[in-house]
Amino acid sequence: MDYGIKGQSVLIVGGARGIGYAAAELLAAEGCGVALADINGDAAKRAAEKLAKDSGAKTVGIKVDVTNTDQVKTMIAAAEKEIGPLSVLVNCAAVLDDKLFMESGPADWKRMIEVCLYGPMNVIHAVLPGMAERKYGRIICLASDSARIGQARLSYYAAAKAGVIALVKSVAQEVGKDGITLNVVSPGATNTELRQEREEGMRAQMGDEKYAKRVQTVLKMYPTRRIGEPLDIGSAIAFLASRNASWVTGQVLSVNGGFVMP
Ligand SMILES: NC(=O)c1ccc[n+]([C@@H]2O[C@H](COP(=O)([O-])OP(=O)(O)OC[C@H]3O[C@@H](n4cnc5c(N)ncnc54)[C@H](O)[C@@H]3O)[C@@H](O)[C@H]2O)c1
Repeated sequence: MDYGIKGQSVLIVGGARGIGYAAAELLAAEGCGVALADINGDAAKRAAEKLAKDSGAKTVGIKVDVTNTDQVKTMIAAAEKEIGPLSVLVNCAAVLDDKLFMESGPADWKRMIEVCLYGPMNVIHAVLPGMAERKYGRIICLASDSARIGQARLSYYAAAKAGVIALVKSVAQEVGKDGITLNVVSPGATNTELRQEREEGMRAQMGDEKYAKRVQTVLKMYPTRRIGEPLDIGSAIAFLASRNASWVTGQVLSVNGGFVMP
């Protein structure tokens, strides 16, 4: 099947690993040029080199902190210099805090909102003028089902992600006339380093026996009886990044093994 993505120039922010990198692998294999930007600049460069080697695609790795608007502008210029005018943006960069709301404070909330909500705002604001001029764009932001149904210990992460959903729906209404779509992919628990780090923290806190029970309880919440793999989410991103998805905009696609059906 032709996915209608060949020849696109894709910027994946937070793409050095995890879901962003899985999407990059799919898109590069389909003939896209891919820029991987990440706060971990060395990891982004290594990931871009591996991707180029594995796929033969044009790639570049760029260091960026999405909370810094100057760095965001420099990132876009650097990406466009290597792979051409951007037609696809995927916003994956995020941090996670596993805390009860009453254990957290303003410094935690500020960092979360800066990375997970201002981050996508900064990048979308910077790519939109070029996409509007070229009358084409695909923007995909990663949220979380915690934003749709709430989740204990993830309150301010969920709040930031709920903001992303509202941002995407609103901007989608403003730029549809310019051939630009914005959508959200909302993953359930997905087997990436981000999740593994959180799970290791839980195992350390609970002990092995209690943790093994928790794993079984979590699996029972998934009708598909497994948690997600990065490629499960990458496939949904690739569809929304394609020309074939031109009539899908302002939507939230939960890719979650049926965990919730909001
Ligand atoms: N893995 C899951 O279970 C899960 C579930 C729901 C939603 N999500 C969302 O999917 C997206 C990808 O998650 P993942 O599991 O692949 O995470 P990940 O931690 O593997 O990847 C996120 C990347 O963002 C980068 N990053 C963090 N702060 C940054 C900053 N200020 N500027 C630039 N880059 C920064 C990190 O270095 C990392 O490489 C995230 O938005 C996450 O919230 C993941």
